Amino acid sequence: MSEPVIGNLMSGHIEVFVVCPADAIERSGAMSFSLSRIDDKGESRPFPIIVVRTFGNDYFGYVNRCPHENVWLNIGSGTFFSADRSFLRCGRHGARFEVDTGMCIDGPCDGQSLEPVALAVIEGDVCLCGVKLLEDDRFGDPFGDSDESMDVTIHPD
Ligand code: FES
Repeated sequence: MSEPVIGNLMSGHIEVFVVCPADAIERSGAMSFSLSRIDDKGESRPFPIIVVRTFGNDYFGYVNRCPHENVWLNIGSGTFFSADRSFLRCGRHGARFEVDTGMCIDGPCDGQSLEPVALAVIEGDVCLCGVKLLEDDRFGDPFGDSDESMDVTIHPD
């Protein structure tokens, strides 16, 4: 698998960042990225995201943080999905989220939502829109050689 690609380009007045080739993510798959964003004070903040590709070929992006206890969704099991892949799932207490809305429909954070990330597919690349990212070498996904679904096991501090 190729390394995730991060780069920026200007599209009209909106800054967009290339995250990865659209085909790098399998249909019904997801991939995580550990990015850094620049906040309002100009400081760098961790910005972990997941990009989900549906079987129908839509892409959705969310901050990789469960609204229940703020852990990464794929904590523990390493997977982002429920067993039948119909929902995103938090590995800690099993909350399930709609893939296309990020809304929790079952679990301790029922009714809360994942934080959406605006994405666009531009010329074959998945791009992040409207977020100012810090660009440096830390954008490579250290878990990039994980299994074919690109789910990864992550243990946040
Ligand atoms: S931390 Fe995600 S369901 Fe509890």
